[in-house]
Amino acid sequence: MKNIFITGGNRGIGKGLVEQFSKNHNVIFTVRNKNQGRMIVDSFEHDNADYVIMDVGESESVQNGVKNLKSKISSVDILINNAGILIPGLKHKINAIDTDLESIMETFNINTVGVLRVCKAITPFMQPNSRIINISSGMGQLEGMGTGSLAYRLSKTALNAMTIVLSQELMGKKIKVNSICPGWVKTDMGGYDAALTVQESAESIKKFALDDDFPNGKFLRHGEVLPW
Ligand SMILES: NC(=O)c1ccc[n+]([C@@H]2O[C@H](COP(=O)([O-])OP(=O)(O)OC[C@H]3O[C@@H](n4cnc5c(N)ncnc54)[C@H](OP(=O)(O)O)[C@@H]3O)[C@@H](O)[C@H]2O)c1
Repeated sequence: MKNIFITGGNRGIGKGLVEQFSKNHNVIFTVRNKNQGRMIVDSFEHDNADYVIMDVGESESVQNGVKNLKSKISSVDILINNAGILIPGLKHKINAIDTDLESIMETFNINTVGVLRVCKAITPFMQPNSRIINISSGMGQLEGMGTGSLAYRLSKTALNAMTIVLSQELMGKKIKVNSICPGWVKTDMGGYDAALTVQESAESIKKFALDDDFPNGKFLRHGEVLPW
């Protein structure tokens, strides 16, 4: 049974990941609202899932969340950086020129710097052969880069760059790091016209995360390597 730590586990893909992994692994997920964490944990018949309160946008909150995490488990085998934001949303495509600069800073703070905050706090208690999965997006892919949603696109392109850097720097600790695109998924962020259910996406991510043949420093969707 592996210890899996998932950020943003209260809804969307993160909640799907908590449901899938906790079937046969020990899962700790983050929430910003304690009641949501309690409700999810109580909804399971098993006791393989628990939560910590953490806002990935605030260093103190990440520190406190990790302190709490350490009181529950001694090491993390798989870290899934899933928490993310998309403002103002896919349905409100705004050109780069008209993008509110604050939205770029806010999005970076969660989607990019937030991942680094969590990695800084968690990697000290990851053992050799542990794994980090950064949930990125095809919208951050340089090849075929489209238009609109500039803040989100930039944050995910930068996240992908961070994946490459971390994958090389953490090699010495035998921690592998990859970015993945979960596909277009029916969530508050993806909208409910999306192609995949949360369950389909979460099952695909779980399969990848546990695969014996886990790559390092790659960008993938459903196990297939994508160009950056
Ligand atoms: N859905 C798609 O089609 C799609 C496609 C490509 C990539 N992705 C990526 O997949 C990941 C999950 O997306 P989703 O569709 O499941 O989104 P979602 O339904 O909007 O859920 C986002 C999750 O992130 C959490 N979160 C947001 N800000 C946070 C913060 N400051 N600290 C901690 N947690 C925070 C949310 O918690 P709260 O409830 O507290 O806000 C929620 O649990 C994201 O990284 C997204 O960019 C999604």
